[in-house]
Amino acid sequence: MARLLIVEARFYEHLNDLLLAGARGAIEAAGHSHETVTVPGALEVPAAIAIAAESGDYDAFVALGVVIRGDGRGRELGYPTANLLCGRYTAIPADGVYAAWLVRRSQRHMAAVSIGTNPTFSGRERRVEAYVLDFDGDLYGERLALDFGARLREMRTYQGLAPLVAQIAQDVIDARAVLS
Ligand SMILES: Cc1cc2nc3c(=O)[nH]c(=O)nc-3n(C[C@H](O)[C@H](O)[C@H](O)COP(=O)(O)O)c2cc1C
Repeated sequence: MARLLIVEARFYEHLNDLLLAGARGAIEAAGHSHETVTVPGALEVPAAIAIAAESGDYDAFVALGVVIRGDGRGRELGYPTANLLCGRYTAIPADGVYAAWLVRRSQRHMAAVSIGTNPTFSGRERRVEAYVLDFDGDLYGERLALDFGARLREMRTYQGLAPLVAQIAQDVIDARAVLS
């Protein structure tokens, strides 16, 4: 079972408490072990993560964020996504598409996660967007955690909607296969 590290910055205390309780519960329910490192401020987070990564003791990191409104395009595409606003120093993997567990209210759901600027739409902001499999609810305003399981591919620029939608459909199949 995986050993996970949660880095908690005191700076984000107001945001983290509920979220961390949910994340810890889900990690334990999944049989993983975890450790929480508390650092004095957001500026200390990258250093704490670098030390932990170098130690080689951990298998994954958990990114925490609040769901905010995106451009509303995802629903049109048939793949509505939860856009996560993460703390400035939250560890987020490199741009690409990932299979991840989304942790919500002590339950975990499979997700296909897109990280990048949505180059197909000439986006500028780097986004963390989760399409949650087998889920049909409203997540706006919720505090969620993402536990990244595997990298599926790089972020790409598609010529039009159809090839992007076809690729997302494949990503969902791949995410389910990796996480099942
Ligand atoms: C699994 C998945 C893979 C994605 N891959 C790409 C991609 O390769 N290139 C891209 O431009 N956008 C990609 N996207 C992002 C979509 O462009 C984005 O979700 C859509 O524009 C909706 O954005 P909105 O939530 O801000 O409305 C992907 C989204 C998902 C869920």
